[in-house]
Amino acid sequence: MTNNKRDGFGSRFGALVALAGAAIGLGNLWRFPYLVGNNGGGAFIIIYLAFVILLLLPVMYAEFVIGRRSQSNVLGAIKKLAPKSVFISIGILSIAVTLTILSFYSVVGGWTIEYIVQSFSSDLFKQDNGALGATFSNFISAPVRPAVMHLVFLGLTALIVAGGIKDGIEKYTKFLTPMLFVIIVILLVRSITLPGAEEGLRFLFYPDFSKLKASSFLDALGQGFFSLSLGMGCIITYASYVNKRENIRKMSLTTVVADTLFAVLAGIAIMPAVFAFGVSPTSGPSLVFITLPQIFAQLPFGQMFSLLFFIVLFVAAITSSISMLEIVVAYICEEFKLSRKAAVLYSSLFVAITGLLCSLSEGAFSNFRLFDKNIFDLFDYASNNIMLPLGGLLVVLFVGWKLKRKDVLDEMTSGGTIPMNRAIFGSVMIILKFIAPLAISIVMLNGIGLIKIF
Ligand code: TRP
Repeated sequence: MTNNKRDGFGSRFGALVALAGAAIGLGNLWRFPYLVGNNGGGAFIIIYLAFVILLLLPVMYAEFVIGRRSQSNVLGAIKKLAPKSVFISIGILSIAVTLTILSFYSVVGGWTIEYIVQSFSSDLFKQDNGALGATFSNFISAPVRPAVMHLVFLGLTALIVAGGIKDGIEKYTKFLTPMLFVIIVILLVRSITLPGAEEGLRFLFYPDFSKLKASSFLDALGQGFFSLSLGMGCIITYASYVNKRENIRKMSLTTVVADTLFAVLAGIAIMPAVFAFGVSPTSGPSLVFITLPQIFAQLPFGQMFSLLFFIVLFVAAITSSISMLEIVVAYICEEFKLSRKAAVLYSSLFVAITGLLCSLSEGAFSNFRLFDKNIFDLFDYASNNIMLPLGGLLVVLFVGWKLKRKDVLDEMTSGGTIPMNRAIFGSVMIILKFIAPLAISIVMLNGIGLIKIF
């Protein structure tokens, strides 16, 4: 393999769909709507937007600066920009957290394939509520079938990533990401035209500040990190394939807007239907694999809507999982001088095994528990609440304190070709140096219970 001509995105649109595809994922569909509804609706949306604009957009700038300046994988990037510094930990942490998240993400990706298949057979829709719950828990706790589906999902992810950036990731996300928006709008129209839909819209948007809890702030921050794929080298890796002439501030903003817009659309597609049928809102796997099938079972043409919904879920999951695999593949290729195909093979074999452990932890291994959580939940908790904010913290400290200010400016202005307002640049630097590290630390320590502020 030759390292002199690095692969990269072929067009601006290609880069944008890949970035938006990485950001839009299960997080938007199964967590955002529920978090919003249960933390005061519009009140939570305001906090979320404030975090996103004031904190997470600058964190995304920071990841863009690291990635595009170094044109390297996460670990290589830090080695290039600050050889032998403690910040190498960003690279190591990124690879570790990516492998952790990808393990359970791929298992859930497998579940979405199972439910696409199930949507074709009408059996699923003949069941009542209790039976749907049992069907789901029987399926995920079985030893073989969910494991096979996980391998199918991972295999598809690996095939796309093996194609490279231009001829793999870009080629597929070019139609997959736009498809997400088309289908979610179809589902949204169906949902808000159901009798009784207003109740769901009220749940989502009516700002009830009295329902804001201390944990709402950690939830908003954690959700923002996860949803925007920050804190684990994803944006660093994708940014390293972005053309030097592109405006990275615009690209960050577009990614953030696309992701947030999709989350809100998903909320409007899901919650009104949930309330119209008088079922109680849930989140995570039980929302998408139990609650929503209950609704599809009662809806005219429910089978078709079920199919569309699980396709959205699958597509959202795979455009995210390829971004995760790419982080690891870029690292193995470049740091160990292996071919892309070999890197894809090794990394997916690894995830195949760790994913199998996650899958089995829902059934055969469910007695194995640490901190009162099975492997699946432990991976989920540790990555979301600890590793991602920690990764984000290191990234902002790195760009705020370690990189030279003029280099950061140079990258943000694409070598001085795209002017940036001095006051805005100054504010971004203040956020990266002081505000973001402080805010992330407080919210993280408070969330895991080490300090008690709110
Ligand atoms: N953002 C995706 C979601 O909302 C998940 C994801 C993809 C991710 N790549 C990531 C999360 C990198 C953290 C880091 O489901």
